[in-house]
Amino acid sequence: MIERPEPHTPNPLTLIARDLRNERAATVPYPPGDTRFSLARTRRFMRDPLGVMLDGYERHGPVFTLRILHHDLVIMLGPEANHHILVSNAHNFSWRGGQLRGLIPFLGDGLLTTDDPYHRAHRKVMVPAFHRERIRRATEIMEEEVERAATAFVPGAVLDLYAWTRDVSLRIAMRALFGLDPDLARAGDLDAAHEFEAALSFHARGLPGQLARGPGTPYARVLRSRERLDALLYGEIDRRRAAGTGGEDLLSLLIAATDEDGDPLPRDQVRDEVMTLLFAGHDTTTSTVAFLFHELAENPELAEDPGVSIEMLLAETLRKFPPAYVGPRRSIAPFEFQGVPVPGLAFVWYSSLASHRLPDVWPEPERFDPFRFTPENRARMRKGQYVPFGSGTRTCIGMRFGEAEIAVIARAILERCRLELLPGYRLDLRTAPTISPAHGLPVRVRRATVA
Ligand code: HEM
Repeated sequence: MIERPEPHTPNPLTLIARDLRNERAATVPYPPGDTRFSLARTRRFMRDPLGVMLDGYERHGPVFTLRILHHDLVIMLGPEANHHILVSNAHNFSWRGGQLRGLIPFLGDGLLTTDDPYHRAHRKVMVPAFHRERIRRATEIMEEEVERAATAFVPGAVLDLYAWTRDVSLRIAMRALFGLDPDLARAGDLDAAHEFEAALSFHARGLPGQLARGPGTPYARVLRSRERLDALLYGEIDRRRAAGTGGEDLLSLLIAATDEDGDPLPRDQVRDEVMTLLFAGHDTTTSTVAFLFHELAENPELAEDPGVSIEMLLAETLRKFPPAYVGPRRSIAPFEFQGVPVPGLAFVWYSSLASHRLPDVWPEPERFDPFRFTPENRARMRKGQYVPFGSGTRTCIGMRFGEAEIAVIARAILERCRLELLPGYRLDLRTAPTISPAHGLPVRVRRATVA
């Protein structure tokens, strides 16, 4: 039996006290940076993390400290920093101890919030659900669902592409990952989507909203959504266990999985992984589709250029707007990066978003240019330079699934029409917990100019 991860305390005061204690116990100094408490800096960081991180890089180089809220935060940027955290020294970083701990009350102990050996054992059970053959079959479901929803793309129509993609992507996840039928009222599945959205909006709230506890608070609403989703999932797990039927979808794999003693996974562990996948796969895919079509609307000639493939468009979209824009970790032991010491038990982040916008690594980083991703250019990239899916042993497990889904959607839309932004639309980013367009992506459908 794999030992469960240490229980998490959701009490914010206990966590703050522990963070301060850890900081005082540091045996080496924090890297240089802005280490005095500043409410203005904290606010700016919440609003514009990219601007603050790029400014830190310019002033201090690839590793620096920012005091955010009550604690020091070490930011490490650039190809070498990414490679250090994700690959060459990955064993020295904990996910559970980093800021992703804030997701534990909702997600429980899934791939995103656990460390080895628990994480490794669960990942091993889940990986087969993402093998090439499974993705191929999932692609058929994606095509069906996209075809069904594509009736929205009639010339002259105005729609929110972000909301459209979110609905399609949730239906795809339910069918392809969990073997659920979104049309069956039995499970009330689409309510699950709303509960899910309600719970996630918690992380987009300001700090006072997040810290409050007690009846009527946003936190109480997270717990209520969690209860409703749990009822749905446990019902499905029990039903499948009783029926003894096993499909090849991820939920069936988790239900059928046994540990080395031959015991099945406890059902709360199955539930936590399902919630984690829904969380990790949902908004990332949806936001990428919205960003891709935003950039195409801004650069319409690219859609007509035969030298530009969907894969190149997708890769450049994920460079400029990687939805999982930071990787929050906690160092385990003190370490050195490029001669700069960093204490143990420090909050450490890598950031794909900021690393993908460094002007010394990506010339003209603000320019959307899919030609950065021709096969020749890709072959020249440095280790750690391009990390929209992370890297190393904890690379995004849903990478191929997400890429296939975005490609199916992009192809279906581009075959039918072109999309233009509504006058006055400005892309503002919402940054919690992943980056997404703050006001959705309202677009007008135009007939394709090229047959
Ligand atoms: C465009 C789409 C997606 C992007 C950009 C993306 C990005 C990422 C990134 C960057 C990580 C690693 C984060 C870190 O290092 O801290 C990650 C992990 C993960 N992603 Fe994705 N993801 C996408 C789609 C999906 C989908 C569709 C699923 C599920 C079906 C998924 C499930 C996961 C899970 C479970 C993890 C944790 C893996 C582990 O730690 O073992 N993702 N994703």
